[in-house]
Amino acid sequence: MNIVVLCGGLSQERDVSLLSGQLVAKALKKLGHKVVTIDLYFGYTGTYHDPRELFTEEHTLADLQISEDAPDLETVKKSRRQANNSLIGDNVIEVCRAADLTFLALHGAEGENGKLQGLFDLLDIRYTGCGSLASAIAMNKDLAKKVMAEAGVRVPGGITVHAGSPSYPLPSLPCVVKPKSGGSSIGTSLVFKEEEYLPALELGFRYEDTLLVEDYIKGRECDVGVLMGKALPVIEICPKTGFYDYKNKYQAGLTDEYCPADLPAEAARRLQKAAETVYRAIGMEVYGRMDFILREDGEIFCLEANTLPGMTPMSLMPQEAAAVGISYEGLCEEIVKGSLAKYES
Ligand SMILES: Nc1ncnc2c1ncn2[C@@H]1O[C@H](COP(=O)(O)OP(=O)(O)O)[C@@H](O)[C@H]1O
Ligand SMILES: [Mg+2]
Repeated sequence: MNIVVLCGGLSQERDVSLLSGQLVAKALKKLGHKVVTIDLYFGYTGTYHDPRELFTEEHTLADLQISEDAPDLETVKKSRRQANNSLIGDNVIEVCRAADLTFLALHGAEGENGKLQGLFDLLDIRYTGCGSLASAIAMNKDLAKKVMAEAGVRVPGGITVHAGSPSYPLPSLPCVVKPKSGGSSIGTSLVFKEEEYLPALELGFRYEDTLLVEDYIKGRECDVGVLMGKALPVIEICPKTGFYDYKNKYQAGLTDEYCPADLPAEAARRLQKAAETVYRAIGMEVYGRMDFILREDGEIFCLEANTLPGMTPMSLMPQEAAAVGISYEGLCEEIVKGSLAKYES
């Protein structure tokens, strides 16, 4: 099959996505597909007569390491030469149209918030994963929590705060401050002391005008991937220091992960059931990953749903798949098959 792997994009998570894209492309090639890897924001700047001819050549992106901090998007913007401000790079649409399928290895912003999915639906471009509505709901953590609660899955209590408000009354502590549509913990802070609250808001507002201020749930951090509606084993995440922030997520060796998590079978089953419930309630398709905290008293809280979970070597969903004997390539193949099946029904 001819497959475009789309990655990068103008998102805080572009570096993570470039790494996901690189690995997905490698896996798809191993599976025998013809693959063109394209950065959504930079597009394809080479020449061609017919975009179909690109699938007969090697089109990969340069190797990349994720640095300790998220990229500066102003610098990224300045480094592109394109005649317009489109968030979609030159020739992306033409090349995707020439493919049998576009594998979305994008994370965050326009690649994951449903807009690209909606555009591709209108253009009759086939893509992997969730559709536009589920993507849009999951990207809005506040709305997603309402959908989860309605479906009977417990979520942390909290409020939303907006940039430019006349005052910011102190919430009950400890709390977590995070951008409403963020990802990879960028702009997220745990607040234990009163004097940490305003700096946490200031950091969050650098990324978005609406922030969630949530009750901090003390417990064990557990994640559950769902593949074709069925939960994979639970993974437990134990950062060696601090919380599961950007650095602890993507620098090797800073976080211990246990999969399957060492939990009572009953707790693991409840987490898996909750993940499947969230997947259905949001209307997710093909695959996704839910983040939970298992509180000390056994209560589970869903923090968020990820419609395009990471596919890097440090990412959780590939580790969960491996625990049930699905290799990285196997996972990519399942995603491809499951996504194509959507178009056949
Ligand atoms: N209410 C909460 N209680 C405890 N920890 C939280 C809470 N919300 C977020 N966190 C921590 O912050 C991390 C990032 O939050 P999350 O909601 O998963 O957003 P994202 O991964 O999209 O940045 C979580 O993995 C967890 O470590
Ligand atoms: Mg998360």
